[in-house]
Amino acid sequence: MSIAASPVAELEIQERVAAAAREGLTSDPKRLPPWLFYDEEGSELFEAITELDEYYLTRTERSILVRHADEIVAAAADSAFAGRARLRIAELGAGSAEKSRLLLRAAAHRQRSLIYEPIDVSASALDGACERIEREIPGVRVIPQVTDYTRNFELAACHGERRLVLYIGSSIGNFEPDEAQQLLRGVRAGLAPGDGLLLGVDLVKDESLLLAAYDDAAGITAAFNRNLLSRLNRELAGDFAPEAFAHRALWNRAFSRIEMHLESRSAQRVRLAAADLDVAFAEGETIHTENSYKFEPGQAEALLEAAGFAPAGLWTDARGWFAVCLGRAR
Ligand code: AVJ
Repeated sequence: MSIAASPVAELEIQERVAAAAREGLTSDPKRLPPWLFYDEEGSELFEAITELDEYYLTRTERSILVRHADEIVAAAADSAFAGRARLRIAELGAGSAEKSRLLLRAAAHRQRSLIYEPIDVSASALDGACERIEREIPGVRVIPQVTDYTRNFELAACHGERRLVLYIGSSIGNFEPDEAQQLLRGVRAGLAPGDGLLLGVDLVKDESLLLAAYDDAAGITAAFNRNLLSRLNRELAGDFAPEAFAHRALWNRAFSRIEMHLESRSAQRVRLAAADLDVAFAEGETIHTENSYKFEPGQAEALLEAAGFAPAGLWTDARGWFAVCLGRAR
């Protein structure tokens, strides 16, 4: 199955990129939204990040899922008030769906067949994953959906099945606490009582470990950060010199988040012709490109609870670096 990117979608994306650049680069302090990271090159760089020694997140979450997939699926399928149900698994920001396979396998094995509904803004990311999953996991049928789930979350009614929505990988960490709350409320509104939401969050830990994960020795995260500028060059006919900006990662303890910035190494001017935008940078001026919130124990449950879910399970690794939390829609 192939999901072609329509010309209309391409146009919309270019307009969204231009609007984001205009808004972010005329603000003070300057900023750019993290969804801009994920064009084709950025998605590849992110995949490379997930394999770095320093980037413990993916590996740690995978170890939790390897160990507890059966239990998680069982907890989602069984509930005291609604009995035992067949599951259907949806996933927000599915991307390459590499870790989700562990849960898909467990569910497909348990009930012999399974519908998987990956949702992503990027058609190309979904395209590859869908085919491979249908080929490699017997019993799984994939129904992909290209949408921006942060704006609208709508899934077809599923009769006789209970949905388990996956929102793993610490993606929720990109949102401000109030935005995260809103997002999960939006998801809850699209679910029925008894449905589940599985949330993966990165936990607060030693600062040196956090910083290394966002400023690796090989410079892949720096390249990922600078790719934002290359993307603006490509899509908005810009003349950024990406190397004229230094990659900065810092731990903001007060807000419990890692921040990434791009810092102008000198005073310079940049033009984005397709957005008709000229931007001046002072030496040392920064563009704030990402927040990655880290959770305290208990915070994921509280977030789910406030969004209309009852806590129904929590799984973590031996070092307590990462947590996977199940909420059941009330
Ligand atoms: C995909 C948002 C979970 O915050 O760790 C990786 C993105 N940024 N390295 C994260 C990211 C820098 C990642 N998330």
